[in-house]
Amino acid sequence: MSAAPVNPNKALWERGDFTRIAATMRESGEELVERIGISKGLKVLDLGCGDGTTALPSAKLGAEVLGVDIARNLVEAGNRRATEQGLTNLSFREGDATNLQSIPDGEFDVVVSIFGAMFAPKPFDVAKEMVRVARPGGRIVMGNWIPNDPTLVAQILKISSAYTPPPPEGFISPMTWGVESNVIERFGSAGVPAEQISFDRDSFIFRYTGSPSGLVNEFRNYYGPTMNAFDAAEKNGRDGDLQRELEELFTSQNTTADGTTIPATFLRVTVAR
Ligand SMILES: C[S@@+](CC[C@H](N)C(=O)[O-])C[C@H]1O[C@@H](n2cnc3c(N)ncnc32)[C@H](O)[C@@H]1O
Repeated sequence: MSAAPVNPNKALWERGDFTRIAATMRESGEELVERIGISKGLKVLDLGCGDGTTALPSAKLGAEVLGVDIARNLVEAGNRRATEQGLTNLSFREGDATNLQSIPDGEFDVVVSIFGAMFAPKPFDVAKEMVRVARPGGRIVMGNWIPNDPTLVAQILKISSAYTPPPPEGFISPMTWGVESNVIERFGSAGVPAEQISFDRDSFIFRYTGSPSGLVNEFRNYYGPTMNAFDAAEKNGRDGDLQRELEELFTSQNTTADGTTIPATFLRVTVAR
């Protein structure tokens, strides 16, 4: 019997331990769910939820939250955190944003996906699924990194791409979700007119108690996409160059003398269903 084929999307995010990066994103996650109006009694789907950066604070605000993520280790970490914090209105389960087959139509008041669904392949399927599971009158809120933006995450991905082999033919970059015309086209094909889609520039802050180069090492050792970039760079003897470029980036973007505080701009998309 042959083994099940590897899903590279799942393997990428199960690599390392994204909870180490998520630990630097907690405060912004809490502030964001308040800003987007998550409140008591709302049924919320957090798609590509990781270990609960936005799902946990949503549940603390009294929403009924389901977190769905493709990475088994992050689902386990999320369920552990929910149990530790005594949250009975929050659970996490494995699932793929391209096909939310176990979720009925119109199940949620709000579908949230902060730097989550953007990383799934097949963006048109993802848009269709988000629209399908949001109830008419409900909404979808996405946070998407913006290609060529000068702030942290877009620059990490840009620097890393110079060290990695070109992606397979047909691969659609996650960063395309940070371009308004693509978002309109994808939700348009899922039946949502452009007038029901709005855009804001928003900011997420990465906070780390150590130095900027300490934070680079967290990415190098625990963040799947950066781990893959270092693997590729090592094969060409260029890992030192990648480390140096990332350290320069993190240091130049750091806004504090005490530890590391780095803001990053993203595109906040709100779709009225
Ligand atoms: C950058 S992390 C963000 C996690 C979380 N939203 C946060 O802000 O901490 C991206 C997440 O998307 C998840 N993801 C990637 N592709 C996915 C897919 N096809 N379906 C569901 N989740 C996916 C990853 O496993 C990972 O947890």
